[in-house]
Amino acid sequence: MALLELRNITKRFPGVLANDNVNLSVESGEVHALLGENGAGKTTLMKILFGIYRMDSGEIIFKGKPVSIRSPKHALELGIGMVQQHFTLVPSFSAVENVLLGLKEMGIIPQAQEVREKLLRLSRIYGLEIDPDEKVWKMTVGEKQRLEILKLLYSGAEVLILDEPTAVLTPQETRSLFKAIEQMKERGAAVIFISHKLNEVMEIADRVTVLRRGKVVGTVKKEDTSTRELAAMMVGREVIFQFEKKKVEIGPPILRIEGLKVRGDKGYLTVKSLDLEVRAGEILGVAGVAGNGQKELAESIYGLRPVEEGKILFDGNDITSWPIPKRINAGIAYIPQDRKEVAVAQNLSVAENLVMKDCCAGKLGRMKLDRRRIDLTVVRLIEEFNIKTPSPAIRSRYLSGGNIQKLILARELSRSPKLIIAEHPTRGLDVGAMEYVYTRLLEEKERGAAVLLLAGDLDEIFTISDRVAVIYDGKIVGYANPDESELERIGLLMAGVTDVQESA
Ligand SMILES: Nc1ncnc2c1ncn2[C@@H]1O[C@H](COP(=O)(O)OP(=O)(O)O)[C@@H](O)[C@H]1O
Ligand SMILES: [Mg+2]
Repeated sequence: MALLELRNITKRFPGVLANDNVNLSVESGEVHALLGENGAGKTTLMKILFGIYRMDSGEIIFKGKPVSIRSPKHALELGIGMVQQHFTLVPSFSAVENVLLGLKEMGIIPQAQEVREKLLRLSRIYGLEIDPDEKVWKMTVGEKQRLEILKLLYSGAEVLILDEPTAVLTPQETRSLFKAIEQMKERGAAVIFISHKLNEVMEIADRVTVLRRGKVVGTVKKEDTSTRELAAMMVGREVIFQFEKKKVEIGPPILRIEGLKVRGDKGYLTVKSLDLEVRAGEILGVAGVAGNGQKELAESIYGLRPVEEGKILFDGNDITSWPIPKRINAGIAYIPQDRKEVAVAQNLSVAENLVMKDCCAGKLGRMKLDRRRIDLTVVRLIEEFNIKTPSPAIRSRYLSGGNIQKLILARELSRSPKLIIAEHPTRGLDVGAMEYVYTRLLEEKERGAAVLLLAGDLDEIFTISDRVAVIYDGKIVGYANPDESELERIGLLMAGVTDVQESA
């Protein structure tokens, strides 16, 4: 009998089916990886299990009995604990005080000395080093994570959910986390390890369940699978749309990148000597598993991230050190993956978000805003891009995901850009909105724009790209045609197998 079973779990958010009939079973003494691209529904599923979200339908069976998990406190009482991506420690408390607080919430009142000793004992057993008296605000991210895990172990959790734990760790810290996970397993706990990194999953997991667009693609044993199969499962391939990709005359190179090196958030080089060219009238799809430098590449072209070495040439100019407004005015459009945090100002109105780039460019009045022209432009864009909003004055945060994306397209594409950087432009959108995004991007290409499409999803790339470049470990490792016969080779390249035959 499985320790834990999730049956037919469905969870819908406005405009997104985050979990679609998901089944997952977890055994004692196993590390079960939950693998999937960003937005696949991993966190949502685990927040349901941990009592943070309520499922729309489905069933959770724990130790053979159906349970209805009401809250994280209830989950912990049952023996199910989660370390979330955003930690939940009290910064002004020490490690011991945080554990005490957690115990008190569960109705247990032990002595501080007793807590301190048991915490140190657990820390030794699992090799999770912490200073019990250090205040949380002084701790590094790695220390905070270790404390979160120790808190769960202290409470006697039998199921430990770790949501992308390695995302915030150095390679050395990752090694010791993996050792601690091995310990948990040996002591009979079940660990649910969430990740989108294939090599980590292949190293630590006993079984892997792959989620894609809210659905389970499959559950496989580690010894029966390979990095390559997991890559294919993760980014999938199922034909949803058939568009006619009109061949238009390919023009001169619009974007040229030479020997680009860019650092990621943690300070390591994530783009490592990358070369790339996108020409007018083509969509170049960059395929790759998340975390191989895609985000940093996009951000450096738009100017959000400094370039360490190398050159970015746009339309004949070296723009490597241009400020963002200059790039925007020269004709670079950006559709970032993070719609809510980066692409729109959530508390500004739909109208303000639509025209913000034109106002700084002076088209709608430089010193004084031309209200009448702004209103006319806004009404026209809302109609042309079919944005469903109760009014142009409403704050953007109240729009659905699909309509926010239409707003972004309206703002970016209405300025007839020469280059469009589109990062996962349909992630989390429903089928109608997806089709709309593809149609607009194809139209832009036919108009003569160069489109750089960054996506993990091969469906997306195959649907609209003219050429595919595969990114792995910060470099372009090969090119392919978006053709079924190339799928296998693309999958291999994505998994870091570079000695594959060129077919074209
Ligand atoms: N609180 C929320 N409100 C609305 N949509 C959400 C919320 N949480 C997640 N989503 C959406 O649900 C989908 C799955 O998200 P998530 O479970 O966070 O994916 P993952 O953890 O695999 O990256 C995404 O499209 C995301 O935008
Ligand atoms: Mg997540």
